[in-house]
Amino acid sequence: MNEPVDHFGEPVAEHYDETSDAMFDPAVVDPAADFLAELASGGKALELGIGTGRIALPLAQRGVRVHGIDLSTAMVKRLRAKPGGEEISVAIGDFATTTVDGTFRLAYLVFNTIMNLTTQDAQVACFQNVAAHLEPGGGFVIEVGVPDLQRLPPGEIFQPFHVSATRLGIDEYDVAAQGLISHHYLLEGDTTEVVSVPFRYVWPAELDLMARLAGLTLRKRWSGWQREPFTSESRQHVSVWEKPDAPR
Ligand SMILES: C[S@@+](CC[C@H](N)C(=O)[O-])C[C@H]1O[C@@H](n2cnc3c(N)ncnc32)[C@H](O)[C@@H]1O
Repeated sequence: MNEPVDHFGEPVAEHYDETSDAMFDPAVVDPAADFLAELASGGKALELGIGTGRIALPLAQRGVRVHGIDLSTAMVKRLRAKPGGEEISVAIGDFATTTVDGTFRLAYLVFNTIMNLTTQDAQVACFQNVAAHLEPGGGFVIEVGVPDLQRLPPGEIFQPFHVSATRLGIDEYDVAAQGLISHHYLLEGDTTEVVSVPFRYVWPAELDLMARLAGLTLRKRWSGWQREPFTSESRQHVSVWEKPDAPR
């Protein structure tokens, strides 16, 4: 497996909370934190790709002991600077392979971050790593978009996901390799900052198979944190897989 590249270094981390401000809205954060707190049911939680603590901090405020893994020291520095951030222990490393002490009632990976692992091997390894950290009966939650190929006209490889006077976002698809690159163009006065991040998009059924390879089974799939039904029209899903209870 290739060494992962840190795409969330200082220049990205510096503006992360600002450029993702819609995702910090309490209307987005609270249902996710409530959902995860309920699933943690008094146990410990492990966030893969904890970032600047968008979900970890509100979850900790709900009484859950949260630990994290992240590749980016720049992102974790922002977490540390926020109230309560110092109390969350974070291991710096690749969440597909990095191990931490102890086992967890809950592991979770939100905001499409499973797609930051750009090979199938790495995504499979991630499930295996999570399974090794879960206690029997524990749950693994992923929030990720359904690949948007239905909206890609035949032969087209570019799809805009954000267009405004100051920001442009365009996804570039490589359908054969199940890859996409998100290009972000930030316009400030006369300058344009360009950030391009590679992803591997992944199908719900493929995630179920990865879970099965790791000894986990699908408990439930919704289209959102408020347990909205998952249908053919759903653009994203919140899925929960579980580790079997220990045999008695
Ligand atoms: C989109 S941000 C999400 C951060 C946070 N979970 C949130 O919801 O705001 C993705 C995070 O995952 C981290 N990340 C990406 N790939 C990683 C990897 N292979 N191992 C560890 N962390 C990774 C990035 O550094 C970044 O902090």
